[in-house]
Amino acid sequence: MEQFKIDIDSGLSAVPKTLPSKYFYDKIGDDLFVQIMDLPEYYLTRSELEIFTTQTQQIIDALEVKPDTYFELIELGAGDGLKTKKLLEALDKQHYKFDFFPVDISQNALDTLEDRLKTELPTISVKKKQGDYFQILASLKNTHHPKVVLFLGSNMGNMTDATATDFIYELSKNLCENDKLLLGVDLMKPASIVLPAYNDSAGITRQFNLNLLHRINQELDGNFLVESFSHIPEYTEEEGIARSFLVSNSKQTVELKKLNKTFEFEKGEKIATEISRKYNDKIIQKIIQGADFSITQKLTDSKEYFVNYILTRGKNEG
Ligand code: AVI
Repeated sequence: MEQFKIDIDSGLSAVPKTLPSKYFYDKIGDDLFVQIMDLPEYYLTRSELEIFTTQTQQIIDALEVKPDTYFELIELGAGDGLKTKKLLEALDKQHYKFDFFPVDISQNALDTLEDRLKTELPTISVKKKQGDYFQILASLKNTHHPKVVLFLGSNMGNMTDATATDFIYELSKNLCENDKLLLGVDLMKPASIVLPAYNDSAGITRQFNLNLLHRINQELDGNFLVESFSHIPEYTEEEGIARSFLVSNSKQTVELKKLNKTFEFEKGEKIATEISRKYNDKIIQKIIQGADFSITQKLTDSKEYFVNYILTRGKNEG
């Protein structure tokens, strides 16, 4: 809660105003995101699910895990686990020995996932970890078992390239030789495909973005008139970054009682709420450049919308 207060205060005091996208994911936000993943315009989940469904064995082969050697399967930002279930099922069928560690910022998402796996794949051992990805990294070093880290769904795309570079570097430092990172990212493509994914006709993404203001009202005793803000997504093909904004429809003042503060909004003023980066090999190579990882496999869906890279940790000590 304290960190939430600090982050919202500094985001709304900044010029231009900004709010961290990680705060989308309260109970309502989790539910909305599950609906987003099912939207006809939101191709990302379907494309990655296709890779996990049709190329499961290629993934397992590239992970170079051995049926008789225990390993830890760690998923950063586990969400609803739909894609991972395909991999878990296949590993289980082939009698691999592993524990599954889903990591998520949302306790609610973790509990839902655990309940689901208990009924759908009862033989899998699930050990949940709640927290920020960066906080979790250091705990990876606590054991010396072989590790496979899943970072799927283009979750990395919600970080700036600088943050993603730091993150991948820290991750590689906390892994050992031959450990694997399965990195799923959305590929650069025309705006006619990307923009609708962030501006769906049913208005779910709009609700998802605006829910951030509802959450602030609730947790910081605020009086945002949520309907006086619009959801505006932007995407430029050259840059390859989808950006979501909340735009004030009028000049207005908002009070957040728990901060003892008011914030002024001009008509048309934007709050940046999210970036969703799209990638190509060159951008990925640049991000992993300083880290001790090399790309050892690359799998794409039939439309080449999405890619799953398998990165192998090199020899350098962390
Ligand atoms: C979780 N993340 C990868 C999603 C994305 O595509 O950036 C979040 C999202 N935002 C709007 N729609 C989906």
